[in-house]
Amino acid sequence: MKFKTGVITASDKGYAGEREDLSGKKIVSIMEENGYEIVKTIILPDDKEMLANEMIAMCDAGINLILTTGGTGFSPRDITPEATKQVIEKEVNGIPMAILNYSLTITDRAMLSRATAGIRGNTLIINLPGSPKAVEEALVYILPSLKHGMEIMLGLDAECARKD
Ligand code: MTE
Repeated sequence: MKFKTGVITASDKGYAGEREDLSGKKIVSIMEENGYEIVKTIILPDDKEMLANEMIAMCDAGINLILTTGGTGFSPRDITPEATKQVIEKEVNGIPMAILNYSLTITDRAMLSRATAGIRGNTLIINLPGSPKAVEEALVYILPSLKHGMEIMLGLDAECARKD
């Protein structure tokens, strides 16, 4: 099964057309290479309500995985984790922890991301940092376990014991 995936880039500059969305494009290419179906991509400003409303719309449209990029840092306008926390029903601590753990082996600055993750209905929402480099590092690390998590969330695999 190809998981339906939505990509949200949170960037004031990207939304204004002042910066090319390389991170969103990076997510699309990595996810397609790994067999995920990209259903929608959108660039939004760092606006909590706009981000939260888009996440809800994607969930309602049957998207099973939402990957956000950007807006996880300390800038006054960074608000993606707060928008995510507003819409999720269950927090998923392990994925941001895993990303942080791995990312700290690459750069100490990984500690500056406030990224979160969680589940709303049949949709997993994961925040990724804003740079294409960070996006790639995070995705490459979580992808092998992500598929199993998606299958369990969607009731496609109730068996957690590893078969490999
Ligand atoms: N994580 C990884 N794997 N690689 C990176 O280069 N950059 C960090 C961090 N996480 C980075 C990373 C930096 S410099 C910042 S400021 C934060 O992510 C927040 O980024 P954001 O505000 O663009 O979301």
